[in-house]
Amino acid sequence: MLEIRNLNAGYGDMTVLKSISLSVTEGEVLSIAGNNGAGKSTLLKAISGIIRYSGSILFLDTELNGLKPHSIVEKGIVHVPEGRKIFPEMSVSENLKMGAFLNPRDYRRHLELAFSLFPRLAERRNQLGGTMSGGEQQILAIARGLMGNPKLLMLDEPSLGLSPLYTELVFKSIGEIKRSGVTVLLVEQNVCESLMASDRGYVMETGSIVLSGRGSELLENPLVKKAYLGI
Ligand SMILES: Nc1ncnc2c1ncn2[C@@H]1O[C@H](COP(=O)(O)OP(=O)(O)O)[C@@H](O)[C@H]1O
Ligand SMILES: [Mg+2]
Repeated sequence: MLEIRNLNAGYGDMTVLKSISLSVTEGEVLSIAGNNGAGKSTLLKAISGIIRYSGSILFLDTELNGLKPHSIVEKGIVHVPEGRKIFPEMSVSENLKMGAFLNPRDYRRHLELAFSLFPRLAERRNQLGGTMSGGEQQILAIARGLMGNPKLLMLDEPSLGLSPLYTELVFKSIGEIKRSGVTVLLVEQNVCESLMASDRGYVMETGSIVLSGRGSELLENPLVKKAYLGI
């Protein structure tokens, strides 16, 4: 569904992404794992049209290079950025409504899905986003992403800084989001958990893809074990 070819991108004179090629297949959970600074968020920013790049990104046979971020959202790519940027002065319900702003189709169905994945949000629907805990804000950010009717949902470090309980909830929800028919592109420093939750994965180091394979295969790979799992 997504085909990236020879993507180069950076900030000013600094090149961050060096000739990245990868693909995402419809219906899968794909993870891009790698340490802090590897370029994972930069890659998601390129896909969302937030930064310029050279190379090609095809989404369902449409070239995305040159499109504005809102057009990319309208095509069905929703990006949940790092650091859960919810609207702190808005209630949970209002945050969810904002998520459906550009893609309002199936609003009811998505709201039901969000509340069934995260019953806590239904209980707290009138609470202001900014007064929620870190874990609650993260599930709100994911739910808000789902409200945008994505075909491809991109999650940037959804487990970063969360308690073990919320980490488990977030990874479990990723499986349920996939079963609801949404393809998931997951970016994580938490290499072990993210590969376990994924069908396939890529490992990224300093702006390049260094390994790829099925999630389970990568977890058994000696380089992954040594560099990321401390085994
Ligand atoms: N807005 C920015 N301006 C300049 N450099 C940036 C910016 N954002 C990220 N970088 C640099 O790009 C590199 C990759 O960062 P990033 O994509 O955030 O990595 P990751 O998400 O894998 O931790 C890092 O060296 C980082 O310092
Ligand atoms: Mg990042």
